[in-house]
Amino acid sequence: MQDLLSEIAEAASANPDKGKVASYIPELAGIDPDQFGIAIAMADGRVFSAGDADVPFSIQSVSKVFALALALGRVGDEIWQRVGREPSGLSFDSILLLERENGIPRNPFINAGALVTTDTYLSGSSPREALGELLRFVRAAADDDSIHMNEKVAKSEIATGHRNFSLAHYLASHGNMRASVDKVLGTYCHQCAVEMTCRQLALAGRFLVDAPAMPGLVSIERRRRINALMMTCGHYDGSGDFAFRVGMPGKSGVGGGILVISPGRAAIAVWSPGLNRYGNSKLGTEAMELFAHRTGWSVFGVPHPGRGIDV
Ligand code: DON
Repeated sequence: MQDLLSEIAEAASANPDKGKVASYIPELAGIDPDQFGIAIAMADGRVFSAGDADVPFSIQSVSKVFALALALGRVGDEIWQRVGREPSGLSFDSILLLERENGIPRNPFINAGALVTTDTYLSGSSPREALGELLRFVRAAADDDSIHMNEKVAKSEIATGHRNFSLAHYLASHGNMRASVDKVLGTYCHQCAVEMTCRQLALAGRFLVDAPAMPGLVSIERRRRINALMMTCGHYDGSGDFAFRVGMPGKSGVGGGILVISPGRAAIAVWSPGLNRYGNSKLGTEAMELFAHRTGWSVFGVPHPGRGIDV
């Protein structure tokens, strides 16, 4: 596994086409695209990593996975009255379907759906309390109390987040927002501004791996459902392509991070800041494609004898 991760990191560094760093959040625009990290937290407790796996990055939309787990913990299945479970086939920040579908976002991973999720775990608390709860969840999942939020990134997004404010106001006009738009946006942007290294993110993702030694922060049923949503909606209008190329549930963020789950086996985090046309990490996606090919891991089949690596 260590050899494979090192080989993947080398291939990524040698690739001249790194994709384009997100620039709509000014604080993220200046990040050096020439960085790549990968880490894996295995079901038996071993952790392997390669490249820039100890460099912190903004997890952005990967946080929507933790937020969904929190919101489900708060209200359970009631959340599905406010947000759907279908891929949108549109970009992560699209407002198009909201009008046609009466203010019910397609899924919890597009921005509109994530704003509903944030509003749900914020309900009855102050933003400070809600964010404290989110950080506690992430830190417990990763078993690492040093995980924090980057205030500059949060402020930078709040100052320029016209689309997200529009989405939240549109949701509010349909009665699908309980807290004020300002509170929800403040909480959401701080949630997205959580920073982690690949190693920390892989460890934090263990709660979604169905294995006895993994942190049991959510029930088996919920874990499976979150994985299902990651597979169908975790990469927005690139979700089908990611499923086709990688064959494992994954959640991306515009910071260039991707969290991938191999049920029963491992949580994998990959990071490279340059994005593809869907707003997902370009080299991260390619690295996961190579990883899936070489290990033979896929939720759609089992590795064949003689193919894949023995771990
Ligand atoms: O709301 C936004 O636009 C960002 N905070 C998060 C979007 C994101 O990460 C999309 N992912 N690929």
